[in-house]
Amino acid sequence: MKALVLSGGAGTRLRPITHTRAKQLVPVANKPILFYGLEAIASAGIREVGIVVGETAAEVEAAVGDGSAFGLEVTYVQQDVPLGLAHAVLIARDFLGGDEFVMYLGDNLLQQDLSELVRRFEAERAKAVSPRLGEDPVVPAAQILLAHVDDPQRFGVAELDAAGRVVRLVEKPEVPPSDLALAGIYLFDHRIHEAVSSIKPSARGELEITDAIQWLVDAGQVVLAEILQGWWIDTGKLTPLLEANRLLLEGIERRIEGQVEDSELEGRVIVEEGARVVRSHVRGPAIIGAGSEVADSFIGPFSAIGRGCVIRHSEVEHSVLCGTSRVIDAGRIEDSLLGYDVEVTRSARRPRATRLMVGDHCQVDLS
Ligand code: DAU
Repeated sequence: MKALVLSGGAGTRLRPITHTRAKQLVPVANKPILFYGLEAIASAGIREVGIVVGETAAEVEAAVGDGSAFGLEVTYVQQDVPLGLAHAVLIARDFLGGDEFVMYLGDNLLQQDLSELVRRFEAERAKAVSPRLGEDPVVPAAQILLAHVDDPQRFGVAELDAAGRVVRLVEKPEVPPSDLALAGIYLFDHRIHEAVSSIKPSARGELEITDAIQWLVDAGQVVLAEILQGWWIDTGKLTPLLEANRLLLEGIERRIEGQVEDSELEGRVIVEEGARVVRSHVRGPAIIGAGSEVADSFIGPFSAIGRGCVIRHSEVEHSVLCGTSRVIDAGRIEDSLLGYDVEVTRSARRPRATRLMVGDHCQVDLS
C-alpha cells in the first residue's frame, strides 16, 4: 500500500495567505496541516508516499524533505497546472505502479484513525463483495469516506442504495442527492488508472476524482462507502481552518518549557521553548510558539501563536498567528488568521486614524 498526497492546487479561497504560501502549510495548533496527514499515513504503516506539488513545490519540499522525519520515503510528483484530483492520479502513474493506495487531500484533517480505514479496505478485498444483489462477488476497487454535512453543495456528494452501496456520485451539485459529502481520503486499487484516463474534464475544467469513481461504479465495480467517525475538516477556508485549530487545541496537554513571569496560565496551555510570557493571562487551550514574547496581554482560548511573535498590550482569542508577527497595543483580536511577518500596531501619530497597508484579497473587519 502506497499513499498519494495532494499538495498542489491554487488555494484561492484562503487568499491572501496563499498568495505567498501553500495552503497545506498553514499551521493549525502550530503545525502545518499537511503534517497531520503525513503522520496519519506513517502510523497506518505506509512508507512510500508520493506528494503531488504545483506552484508551491519548493516550499512543500523544504518543509517535508525526503520524508524521513516522518518515517516516510517521499517522491515528489510535479503537476504544472492544477487540472483536477483525477489528473493528479494520472500523472502519478509511474510512482503508483500497480499498487493499492490511499489518496489523501493535503488540506483535509481527519480525526478518525487512518489505519482502521486501510485495514477495512484490505479485509473487504480479501473476501470480495457483490456489486448488486444477486451478482457474483468481486474484489472492491475503491473505498470512499462519507460525512453528513449541512452544505453538500460545496463537496462531492454520494447517493447510496438501501444496502449502503454507492450508486451515484456528483461533484458540487446544485441540487444534492443526499447530505453525504465525500471526505478527501480515498482508497483505490490499480483499476482507478483506467477510470482516470477514460473520463472527460468537468464544467469547471478539471478531471474530477468523483467522476472517475462514478466510472468504476458504471463499469460494475464495487466501491465501498464508509460513514466517517469523529470530525473531518476541509480547511480550504478561514472558518473551517479556525474550527480545525479549535478541535486540535482541544486535545493538547499542558506543557511549559519557556519562561513565565508574573503571569497566570489557566488550564491546558503550551509555552514552547524560548517563549516568554510576562505580566499576562493565558487561558487555555492555547499555544505560545517557540521564541515568542507575550507581555501585558491576554491570550484567550483556542489561540495558536506561532514562532517568534511579539504580542504586547493586546488581547488575542480564537485566532491563528502563523509566526513572526507583531501585535502591539492592538486592542482585542478575535476569529482571525494572521500570516507571517504581519504588523498590527497602534501609533500615537496625529491625526489619529486607521492606517493600512494590506495586499490583494485581504479582509479587515474594524471593531
Ligand atoms: O475536501 C473534500 C472535497 O475535495 C471533496 O468533497 C470533493 O469531491 C473534491 O473534489 C475536493 O474538492 P475541493 O474543491 O475542496 O478540492 P480542492 O481544489 O480544494 O483540492 C483538494 C486538494 O488537492 C488541495 O490540497 C489541493 C490539491 N490539488 C487540487 C487540484 C484541483 C492538487 O494537488 N492538484 C489539483 O489539480
